[in-house]
Amino acid sequence: MKTPKFLLPVAAAGALALTLSACGGGGGGATATGGGDAANGLDARGPITYVQGKDNSNVVRPLIEKWNAAHPNEKVTFKEQTDQADQQHDDLVQNYQAKNPNYDVASVDVVWTAEFAAKGWLQPLKDKMAVDTAGMLKPTVEAGSYKGTLYAAPVSSDGGILYYRSDLVPTAPKTWDEMMGMCSIAKENGIGCFAGQYAKYEGLTVNASEAINSAGGSVLNADGKPNLNTPEAKEGLQNLATAYADGNIPKEGITFQEEQGRQAFQDGKLLFHRNWPYVYNLAVTEGSSKVKDVLGMTALPGKDGPGASTLGGHSAAVSVYSKNKATALDFVKFLVNEENQKFFATQGSLAPVIEALYEDKELVAKLPYLPVLKTSIENAVPRPVTPFYPAVTKAIQENAYSAIKGEKTVDAALSDMQKSIESASAGQ
Ligand code: GLC
Repeated sequence: MKTPKFLLPVAAAGALALTLSACGGGGGGATATGGGDAANGLDARGPITYVQGKDNSNVVRPLIEKWNAAHPNEKVTFKEQTDQADQQHDDLVQNYQAKNPNYDVASVDVVWTAEFAAKGWLQPLKDKMAVDTAGMLKPTVEAGSYKGTLYAAPVSSDGGILYYRSDLVPTAPKTWDEMMGMCSIAKENGIGCFAGQYAKYEGLTVNASEAINSAGGSVLNADGKPNLNTPEAKEGLQNLATAYADGNIPKEGITFQEEQGRQAFQDGKLLFHRNWPYVYNLAVTEGSSKVKDVLGMTALPGKDGPGASTLGGHSAAVSVYSKNKATALDFVKFLVNEENQKFFATQGSLAPVIEALYEDKELVAKLPYLPVLKTSIENAVPRPVTPFYPAVTKAIQENAYSAIKGEKTVDAALSDMQKSIESASAGQ
């Protein structure tokens, strides 16, 4: 049997970025060091397509209009995917595999960088194609990089936030137990207590990891090996399983991705809701929102104090198959410039990647939660960094799902998760 090669730690700002050891090209395909398709079209200009998940907050269209007005010969067409993370991933994989030249620039989730870069699908953003990342939050730059090379320029970061009903919750809870203690308030008001995202998809990996991290555990240890058979990991996953069994997480929570949870919270059906920063803008602006004037936001709850979010976010990558890479690169730079980062923040409450914006007086006046969000992102824990991420996330999701639904004990789920992550990493 091959000795499993594991997930070596790399120091990151306030957290461990856990990554696979250097072990060859990983997922196969081109090495993406500049040869092959990556050498073509670097100076070419012309129309391009930008591919991204659903524009929930209507921030992409106005920016593309602005770009198109200024670049009549290099117009950008928006290809909008669904709002579901796994479908976005699979759509990108299919189109890269087909070498589709029209997926010029794509929005890449932080957990896909390693897989796509190892496959040779992303243009290295260096030399002629370099993007200046000075001034960007370090974890976001690391999340767009693979083996020391930038492959995707950070566009928006993401840190988990606990949204709550400020009319019903006297003081925001700091710990999980405090929050569960407040579920009686939900009962008295005939609403659900708490929900994050528990459908079987990437969001469940986010939520299960957060539960484990927030209870003092970790999915991987400092040596990059799975670390799930620990009392802390058990406490974290057990918290979700118990809350689901006793109804503090309402039954429909098991079907929630981000949008279903947001809707339930905005409809006034939840006391507490774990979601990303984009919810703020929609919850205070959408006509149908019942929580406009009673929206509380705080850090995720932990064991003895605030918990640790999972690091989320998206970066813009240029496809090696693009025929107009000079235009594609300029468009990537446009997405990350300060003016447009401010626009994403004010119009869509997306988390900026430019560090200084978190202290920008004008912005903080409009978005008072920015300092809390910055702390959430700086302390956020990255998900495992590996070209084999699809198998790793599957191991986490499937076992967490069975444990929450009570189909497997938490012990069995964690031990199976441990084994599956080990075997997912063993084949390299
Ligand atoms: C958000 C995050 C992303 C995460 C996804 C899960 O889009 O930014 O990192 O993987 O949610 O649904």
